[in-house]
Amino acid sequence: MKSFALLLSVAASLASASAIAIESDAIPAGAAITLPRHGAPSVRTSLIPRNNTHCKKKDDWGNAVEKDRKKITIRASKDDGDDISDDFLWAIKEANHGGLVHLEKGKKYVIGKKLDLTFLKDVYVKIDGELKFTNDIDYWQANNFYYDFQKSITFWVWGGKDIKIYGSGMLNGNGQAWWDGFSGAEILDPNNKFYRPILFMTDNATNVEVNGLHLKDSPCWTTFFVRTNNVVFDNVYISAVSTNVSSLPKNTDGFDSLNVNGLTVLNTRVNVGDDCFSPKPNTTNILVRNLWCNGTHGVSMGSIGQYPGVKDFISNAHLENITLLNGQNGARLKAWAGPNVGYGYISNITYKDIHVENTDHPIVLDQCYFNINDTTCAAYPSNVDITDVKFINVYGTSSGKEGRVVADLTCSPGATCSGIHLEDINITSPKGAPAQVVCDNIQGDIGVECIPKSEADN
Ligand SMILES: *[C@@H]1O[C@H](CO)[C@@H](O)[C@H](O)[C@H]1NC(C)=O
Ligand SMILES: *[C@@H]1O[C@H](CO)[C@@H](O)[C@H](O)[C@H]1NC(C)=O
Ligand SMILES: *[C@@H]1O[C@H](CO)[C@@H](O)[C@H](O)[C@H]1NC(C)=O
Ligand SMILES: *[C@@H]1O[C@H](CO)[C@@H](O)[C@H](O)[C@H]1NC(C)=O
Ligand SMILES: *[C@@H]1O[C@H](CO)[C@@H](O)[C@H](O)[C@H]1NC(C)=O
Ligand SMILES: *[C@@H]1O[C@H](CO)[C@@H](O)[C@H](O)[C@H]1NC(C)=O
Ligand SMILES: *[C@@H]1O[C@H](CO)[C@@H](O)[C@H](O)[C@H]1NC(C)=O
Ligand SMILES: *[C@@H]1O[C@H](CO)[C@@H](O)[C@H](O)[C@H]1NC(C)=O
Ligand SMILES: *[C@@H]1O[C@H](CO)[C@@H](O)[C@H](O)[C@H]1NC(C)=O
Repeated sequence: MKSFALLLSVAASLASASAIAIESDAIPAGAAITLPRHGAPSVRTSLIPRNNTHCKKKDDWGNAVEKDRKKITIRASKDDGDDISDDFLWAIKEANHGGLVHLEKGKKYVIGKKLDLTFLKDVYVKIDGELKFTNDIDYWQANNFYYDFQKSITFWVWGGKDIKIYGSGMLNGNGQAWWDGFSGAEILDPNNKFYRPILFMTDNATNVEVNGLHLKDSPCWTTFFVRTNNVVFDNVYISAVSTNVSSLPKNTDGFDSLNVNGLTVLNTRVNVGDDCFSPKPNTTNILVRNLWCNGTHGVSMGSIGQYPGVKDFISNAHLENITLLNGQNGARLKAWAGPNVGYGYISNITYKDIHVENTDHPIVLDQCYFNINDTTCAAYPSNVDITDVKFINVYGTSSGKEGRVVADLTCSPGATCSGIHLEDINITSPKGAPAQVVCDNIQGDIGVECIPKSEADN
């Protein structure tokens, strides 16, 4: 048994040594390639009498699991100015088609150049260390990937098929300098030219899994998925916390999406100053379970219906066991109204087991977004129909900011909001009892007693 084990390890080290020797010309300084232990075919066939091909474990997508992959490491950065983006890009190319890039624990890897990672096919990126972006605002504002939708820019784009990014490490957006610099110019402000990068973005991707990481201090949205099918976030922590009281993080949403089918978020905690989870146009088949949000703008469907002549939709969403603390909103739907907006629908949405504490607006249906007053909303109602939305077992406390109002369902006059159903709602307001539910222009019975806004506390 002993000699057998020895033989295996000799074979494995021979295999990895020969791989390094063969490719040494192309390998950047400080990088290494290690082949999987069972990768040497001569050992497998001559010494192990078993049906190897068929007992190998596969991952959820039918690809090799971690231990059966070629592993690539690269040198770490010496300091925050030591850009290793060329080495990282080399490693990703080397690991593409079945390999793994490992960023090691206790090491920092600084990215100072924009990276096009849209060519992927079956790659694992294990991040146990810290991958940090430089805060060279001039560079990034001149060099980025730009998307018309809400004038989004990003440091890098991930695309292709079967992409797994996981580990105990961190993606650090180094956002402080961006928040200090943007002086209040929010992304929906039409005059804003101070674009800020998104920390993690996919485009034209199928099967993306992110597991275990901490996504910290994004300059703008933390994640954005575009033209992507099947993205899963599990066991992730997202935070954006400023050390400067006069420049708080803005627009640092946890999750945004556009033209996405299959968006799943599980066992995740979000501590940011904006939306916790807010799929945008054309997102379908959404599952959110065990999500914790602190100090956020809530878990929202939308906004959608922003752009004139464009059809947007969000459908088939199930959101369950969500905790929302100290935020503006709890469960929310938002659709644009006004003279120059789009159209579409939000349908088949279930919010279940939602725990709110100290939340300004625990339940919101807003069909007069964004900042449209009653007169304008009546003159130019939303063209986004909102149908079949359930709020089941929503409980806890409001902040009292809206008096006794704990749910505000405001549909544009003349527009469609139907199949809206509330059940087991137990939210108390520090401003007194009974709590009030506002419903304006909602068609049909909503399941609980409600009053028009004109009769409510605020
Ligand atoms: C290996 O096992 C599979 C079933 O798992 C079987 O179909 C196949 O014929 C076997 N191959 C060999 C060479 O034994
Ligand atoms: C999307 O990616 C596929 C390969 O995965 C590629 O063939 C196709 O051209 C890409 N589409 C766009 C619009 O980039
Ligand atoms: C804090 O933010 C303000 C407003 O953007 C900025 O003027 C100031 O320089 C920042 N302070 C520090 C220490 O960076
Ligand atoms: C609900 O989510 C919380 C995290 O916010 C988790 O601790 C708890 O176990 C979840 N409950 C169930 C029944 O899964
Ligand atoms: C929640 O956010 C508030 C600020 O909004 C912060 O003071 C508090 O520490 C956070 N709580 C947790 C558990 O992170
Ligand atoms: C949403 O999908 C429709 C097609 O059904 C398309 O016309 C529209 O442009 C998409 N919206 C966005 C914002 O991409
Ligand atoms: C509603 O959405 C759920 C997923 O949340 C899905 O299972 C169900 O089939 C959808 N219902 C309809 C009528 O499409
Ligand atoms: C509502 O908003 C419109 C457009 O901004 C403005 O012209 C109008 O005066 C506002 N009406 C009220 C009652 O505030
Ligand atoms: C509503 O919540 C309060 C505070 O948690 C609790 O005392 C009360 O029994 C609940 N009411 C119902 C009907 O569940």
